[in-house]
Parts: sequence; structure tokens; C-alpha cells
Amino acid sequence: MSTKGNRDFRPFRHYAPPAGWINDPNGLVYEDGTWHLFAQHYPHDAVWGPMHWVHATSRDLLTWTDQGIALYPDDKLGMAFSGSGVIDRGNTSGLGDGVDPMVLMYTSHGEYEQQSIAFSNDRVHFTPYQGNPVMPNAEKPDFRDPKVFYNEIKKCWTVIVAAGDHLEFHASDDLIHWRKTGEFGQKANRLGGIYECPDMFPLTAPDGSTVWVLILSLLLPAPYGSSRTQYFLGRFDGDTFEETIPAPYPRILDSGYDNYAAVTFNGADRRVMIGWGSAWSYAFFEPTNEFCGIMTYARELTLVDTEAGLMLAAKPVTPDFDLKEATPVEKPADADRFWQPQAIAELPGELFHARIEAEDNCRLELSNALGEKLVVLLTNEQKLVVDRSKAGQNGFSEMFADGLYSVMTAPRTAHGPAVIDVYFDRMIAEVFMDGGTVVNSSIVFPTEPYTKAKLIGRGKLYVG
Ligand code: FRU
Repeated sequence: MSTKGNRDFRPFRHYAPPAGWINDPNGLVYEDGTWHLFAQHYPHDAVWGPMHWVHATSRDLLTWTDQGIALYPDDKLGMAFSGSGVIDRGNTSGLGDGVDPMVLMYTSHGEYEQQSIAFSNDRVHFTPYQGNPVMPNAEKPDFRDPKVFYNEIKKCWTVIVAAGDHLEFHASDDLIHWRKTGEFGQKANRLGGIYECPDMFPLTAPDGSTVWVLILSLLLPAPYGSSRTQYFLGRFDGDTFEETIPAPYPRILDSGYDNYAAVTFNGADRRVMIGWGSAWSYAFFEPTNEFCGIMTYARELTLVDTEAGLMLAAKPVTPDFDLKEATPVEKPADADRFWQPQAIAELPGELFHARIEAEDNCRLELSNALGEKLVVLLTNEQKLVVDRSKAGQNGFSEMFADGLYSVMTAPRTAHGPAVIDVYFDRMIAEVFMDGGTVVNSSIVFPTEPYTKAKLIGRGKLYVG
């Protein structure tokens, strides 16, 4: 194992592997009270390597029990790249042994990218299907990250696969034999880059209509800001997706860089998403020692009407924090009121929630005794800014330290007073504003824990 850092950044309530590397969340399935999380994994070092799938389970999405390695690289077919999972109700695949099997669909990454499946009857041991790949490919250079789900419209299985600059839709009756039903994307790909990790699901809009949400992670060249997750709103006719509710600008899931390859669970009665809390531009160099890579908090997604139109709102699943109002600071009469802190609070540790109720523009600083500080700002121009340029260690990567990756901005979707929630867990800050329609997820590496929260501007600060 390589040693990259000088302190323990292992988060308390976010999934990180026992050792080694993780990236994308894979195979997210909910069954009988248990959330199954798999992830792209290299167990032998804290950097990317031949990809396995690691498996963990949780009853509350906050405490995770490691279940070991579910998928290994295959001598013939290659590494186990990203994919998804379903419970095969009715055993349509015939791979069940007295129970409905859990079937994982993933990309075998060898000379070409092809889709394979593996199954489990006990939810711990997974066996690759002997007829893999179930979706062969010997021409497309990029063909990966299958998202499989039960298609209620056509009463069959549907899978979406990312194929470079577009998506392919395929259907099956048994998860083994697939037929192509459609494509989406060349014209809609506003951000450019290579498509990765698609997801698609229906949500009920505030007007009662069903709107399909299509999620796409885009791998962009690093100097321009890699790792953006974009979403589209529209219609699924059972065969393919059509964007019917376009937006004037690309809809971005998160203004931070540390929520990549985000996908949702199959099998739950609400839409719950998890993303990889890092970005390809700098992930290899994170100063975290025996492990590298964490997941974001899970977030429940809904559709809401905003001043910027119909948008996804994310509500994080977090521990219960007992928020207390910070005591307002007595101001000397001659103080420069614009730089005078309004309230200061001691932080309770490295796992906390800070909330600002801002009357208008304001600034929150989370800082330590070394003067390192993470700044969350609501600007005059009604933008959320997260500034991690002085938040802690950043010399490990030129990209991480670059302005593009360290000062991030997102426009509000409302105006007037704002509530800003900052959830912090050791090395990740997840910021939510305007009812979860404005989000920023950012990893930081403070040399010492933050101890103080300081509010500048008119408003109230709560910490718990
Ligand atoms: C996304 C991704 C996927 C691929 C996996 C490899 O972050 O590049 O497209 O399957 O990571 O680890």
C-alpha cells in the first residue's frame, strides 16, 4: 500500500473501502431493508488498478458493513468495469436456485468493452455467467457502464449503455439475450466529452405528470473541468428517451467536482442516489493513506418547480444533528460592519452540520488553528460559491490546487432569504441551498480538524 498523507481522513458516515482504491458506485440495489452498494475497486493499492467490485451493505445508508469482493478481473474478458444490479423477480434468467437471484450487469473491459452478468443467490457470493459476454462488442472503442432496470412500459428488462458520444438502449426478456431498441445523445451532448455511467428513472413532477430523468456522467479533458454529471428531463416510450423539457443551459447535478458517476438504487420506493466523491483529475493523489476514494452521502431525488424551471432537488440522508443557534457576536460601535463576524461557534468535531439562514449575501468560514479555511459564500450576484483554495492540503495535485477546481460557483434557483446547509464529514463538505436544487460536493484535506464556524453577513448560524 502506498502512503500518501500524514493524517487519518477516513470519514465516519460515508462509505470508504477498508483498504485500496474505489471509484464509481456500482450495482446499487435495495432489497428487504438492505441497501447494497458495490464500487469499482482495486484492493492491492490506493490507486486505480485492475478493477474488481467491492461490496458493502447498510440498513440506514450511513453505516456500512463490508461484504468483501464480489467481482474479480477475468483472465479472458478483462477487468470488471462499472455497471448495475437488479433482483431478477420471477427468475427470468433461470440463474436462481430456489430464490430470485440478484443479477449484476457490468462491463468486461478487455481489448473491447462488452457487457457481462454475474448472479448471486445468497447476496454475498457472485458467480459470473458462463456464457459471458451477454452483449459482445468488437468495434466500438467505448461501450460501457450498463444501467439495467425493469421496464414497466414494455414488461421487459431494459439496459442503457454508454457508447462514446451517445447512449444505446437494449431490451431483454431474460437478462441474457439483448436486442437494441434505440439511441439518445449525439445532438443533446451539450457538455461534450465521453459519456459514462448513465441512469434513467421516472419521477412525478409537481403537476402530477410523469417525467423521466436521464443522468449522464461526462468525462471531459482535465484542463477544462473534468467529471461533470449532467441530467435531461423528458419522456421514455419504452424503447428510447427523448428530451421534452429542455433547459436554456445544461442542467448540472452538482457544482462541485466530487459527485461523479452518480447513479440511483433499483428496487427502492424512493429515488436514492450515491456518487463517487472525487474526480479523475486528481483522485490518484489524494493524501488519504491506506484507502483512496469515498462515496457521497446518499440523496433522495425529487422534481420541483423553481424560478429556473423544473429541476431535480437532492435531500441528503445524514445522521441526526442537534442544531443549536450560535451566539451572535457583540460588535464594537466603530467596527467595520461588513467584516465583523455575526456569529462564531465551536465545531463539535469532524462530523457536523452547519446551517446558515441568510437574510442576504453572507459568508461562512470553517477554519482550524493553522488558518486553513473552507469558505461557503452567497454572493451579491445570487450565486453559491464554495472556495476550497485555502481549505487545507492541496499541493498533492496541480489540478486540485488550480482555480478551476478550487473555487466553484452555482447560480441560485430562487431569490430572497436563503437557507444553506453544510454537512461535513472529515474530508467532504456537501452543501445544499434552495431546497436542494443548488448543490456542491467538495472534498478537502485540512491539516488539522476545523474547530470554528464563523458567519459574516446578516443572518443566523446554527451548528450541531
Ligand atoms: C467512470 C469510469 C467508467 C468505467 C470506470 C472504470 O468513472 O470511467 O466509465 O466503467 O470508471 O473504473
